[in-house]
Amino acid sequence: MKQAGATIVKEDPQRVERAFLVGVEMPRTDADEAREMLRELHELTNTLGIPIVGSTMVKVRKPQARYLVGGGTAESVVEQANECDADVIIFDDPLLPSQQRNWEELSELAVIDRQEVILDIFAGRAQTREARLQVQLARAFYSLPRLKRKWTHLHRQRGATGGMGMRGEGEQQLEVDSRLVRTRIAKLKEQLKEVRQHRHTQRSQRMRKPVPVAAIVGYTNAGKSTLLNTMTDAGVFVEDKLFATLDPTVRRVTLPNRQELLLADTVGFIRKLPHSLVEAFKSTLEETFMADFLVEVVDATTDQLEERLETTRDVLTELGASEKRMITVFNKVDLVKDELTLRRLARKYDDAIFVSAKTGQGIEEFRDRLALELSHGLERKHLRIPHSRHDLVARLHRSCAVLEQRHEDDAVYLTADIPKQMLSELAAFFLDSKENC
Ligand code: GTP
Repeated sequence: MKQAGATIVKEDPQRVERAFLVGVEMPRTDADEAREMLRELHELTNTLGIPIVGSTMVKVRKPQARYLVGGGTAESVVEQANECDADVIIFDDPLLPSQQRNWEELSELAVIDRQEVILDIFAGRAQTREARLQVQLARAFYSLPRLKRKWTHLHRQRGATGGMGMRGEGEQQLEVDSRLVRTRIAKLKEQLKEVRQHRHTQRSQRMRKPVPVAAIVGYTNAGKSTLLNTMTDAGVFVEDKLFATLDPTVRRVTLPNRQELLLADTVGFIRKLPHSLVEAFKSTLEETFMADFLVEVVDATTDQLEERLETTRDVLTELGASEKRMITVFNKVDLVKDELTLRRLARKYDDAIFVSAKTGQGIEEFRDRLALELSHGLERKHLRIPHSRHDLVARLHRSCAVLEQRHEDDAVYLTADIPKQMLSELAAFFLDSKENC
């Protein structure tokens, strides 16, 4: 596996090795949620591979233009970061480009926010050309209003003291940089268009095969890839780090009624996902749009269950996929020691399935449920297939639920539940069709 690098942005080679994290309690967030978000920022920073030397929580009563927090609080944060000998301050809340610059001037340290951490994780994880282009594009958009700040970095590295004398050079450099980034954005968009065109062709070919598709969605680390691995032997990359999967993996599974289903793994969702990333990943997540239904995986062990469900549904709404039928699967039940918790969840989400993708507990029930979901789109038909078309008989066994089969001298007679996608293709062989009457 490729380890995410600890550079802030590719264009800026400054390495950071000691992070000081700042959790933010905004007027409308409650203290517990802010603490949980800070814990999550710890995980994100760990995933990025930057050691954490300290953290603090700040309260924002009214957001301030200069530092988001008040000047006194800002100075106290910088003092704490210096005491820990940190070389980067990481904010949980998004900072405006101007606020980021102000913080960097005040602290003389690199200052980044959760969004930049997520972008960097994505950059380290992207495996396919499409995912890499998508992340590069999202990063380019993110960096555009922040170019001034990178100049500041360069400035400091050169050992210059700044001041008006250097200003002209900085502004000129900024214009050049900004033009470069814009050209890069245009080029990336062009390249992405080509890759997508290719992917579109591949998908159309797959869609022509009349196999229904379900997309697995959910918060990062919920166990989506593990579930896909348990259902198939997909060998999808599984790691106890956030965003192990960036590229969609699609695998074929056979259900108890012998019907086939394509299961697609998708990128994990997370709170405060940078908008540019959601935009960039829209095409990858097209699998989600195209799916016949969704499988929403939820980590049953988290205290933040409701918030995570909400995030998943918010992202789905943003993607225009919120109206899809959905099976909710609570995963990791092997780790839930308290029976009461499970019973409470089962009462509240009475339609949900409870599984452990790791031990296999509940997986049979999940398979049954998938089959049931598919049966909504099935139609029962009686067919007469000539002996010369044994390929079709084999296909019926592969992709439909065959309930009866009888070999006669003239043909094979079958009764089968057929997915709606296959109906037109098989219509000529239905016993009520003209040809067969
Ligand atoms: P992203 O790629 O970040 O979206 O993650 P994901 O949702 O695909 O999660 P993944 O399958 O990578 O699992 C995350 C971690 O949870 C891994 O360490 C898994 O081994 C662990 N895990 C997944 N399912 C279970 C489960 O049922 N029980 C236990 N104990 N651990 C699980």
